[in-house]
Amino acid sequence: MTQSHLANAANNPTTDGLPRVAYARGSYLFDVDGKRYLDGSGGPAVYCLGHAHPEVNEALRIQNEKVAHAYRYHFTSDASDQLQAIITERTGGHFRQMVFVSSGSEAVESCLKIALQYHAARGETARRRFISRRRSWHGNTLGALSVSDFKTRREAYEGSLLDVSFVSSANAYRPLEGVAPDQLAAHLAVELEAEILRVGPETVAAFIFEPVVGAAGGVVPAPQGYAKAVQAVCRRHGVLVIGDEVMCGSGRTGTWRALEQDGVVPDIMSVAKGLAGGYVPLGAALYADAIHDALVAAHGGVQTGHTFTGHTTACAAGVAVQTIIERDGLLDHVLKRGARLRDDLRAALSDMPEVGDIRGRGYFIGIEIVADPDTKRPFDPDLMVHAVIGRRALEKGLICYPCTGNVGGTAGDTIILAPPYNASEEELEESVATLAGAVRETVARARTT
Ligand SMILES: Cc1ncc(COP(=O)(O)O)c(C=O)c1O
Repeated sequence: MTQSHLANAANNPTTDGLPRVAYARGSYLFDVDGKRYLDGSGGPAVYCLGHAHPEVNEALRIQNEKVAHAYRYHFTSDASDQLQAIITERTGGHFRQMVFVSSGSEAVESCLKIALQYHAARGETARRRFISRRRSWHGNTLGALSVSDFKTRREAYEGSLLDVSFVSSANAYRPLEGVAPDQLAAHLAVELEAEILRVGPETVAAFIFEPVVGAAGGVVPAPQGYAKAVQAVCRRHGVLVIGDEVMCGSGRTGTWRALEQDGVVPDIMSVAKGLAGGYVPLGAALYADAIHDALVAAHGGVQTGHTFTGHTTACAAGVAVQTIIERDGLLDHVLKRGARLRDDLRAALSDMPEVGDIRGRGYFIGIEIVADPDTKRPFDPDLMVHAVIGRRALEKGLICYPCTGNVGGTAGDTIILAPPYNASEEELEESVATLAGAVRETVARARTT
């Protein structure tokens, strides 16, 4: 496996050197040579119930035997109605309206379009602009890419992307210069309001943010009070709030919505990865009743969706995954065990000053490596410390998710750990020990380079 594969897996168009998967069971994948890999990151935080869960596979088999896909304009289905009811219930009744899609990017794209349609429906047709944040990732379709600040993934498309405003990221480990960490949330709210006023509130459709940043930051939870403060600003100016929970949602942080822990309900939100746990591609854009009412009054309903919207077997997978998570009390487990998992990692790496920060919520954990813990200066990007850690971990049989770009878009080294919610104690311990070994060996070498 090459370093560039691990550096930027989502960007790399080649598959040269990758192991060839044969099968997977629970938290482990096996390649065709019989090598075993513990899935410590669920790809990018997808496989919340591990692989080949017998109950999920059985639900898929049953649905496929009945009907795999009935087109949404011809039929409703038990599977999509049940999943809708589950999502409404898991979101505390806040989201009864939704569009099912087949990926996180489509979910975000739908959220953006729902915001635009809402303003158009109310006659505010000048509200076309989105505001997003630095160091963010919202997806690969043109709209979702436009609101993403991920330099290497945008570069080839610059010039064709939407004109989007970007405000500062909310990173307590790397607060803005001259801003104390406890002042960060208030400072960023002021910055957002200033940008809304600068471009004209009447032109702004929505503010989109990841409640816990994923790949673009290496798991960065918003500081305390941030989500409430930015929501208040948006409310003052009629700007919708879109919470992108594609990676951090569906229970990954230990609550079904990540923003639940911030006491905030956005107007629109996206979910995907963990919704059907990777058994079938599935995402959704969820939106408030007030938005739905405006869309119905003006246009008869929401005007977005795809051929595979509400795909019957995908919805059946979502029902099975979410039913098992609830039945087995996995979110409470993720919340509590996640805090201990971060402590375990801290303990295992306590002798490594270069481990600058271990952060996250639930089973969504980021480890940031720095060259200098006092100044937080990252290692030379050419060393690709994150990628080397990823490669060493893989050699040792652990899949983690190495990321870069968290410092200035091109530098920084972070590793994401996002195990299945039902991983065993032994598997979690193995993840910690293997990852700590890979970090230790890589950083010891980087020190002397
Ligand atoms: C927060 C967030 N939004 C959107 C996306 C895009 O999802 P997908 O890759 O399924 O299109 C991702 C993918 O990593 C993500 O992390």
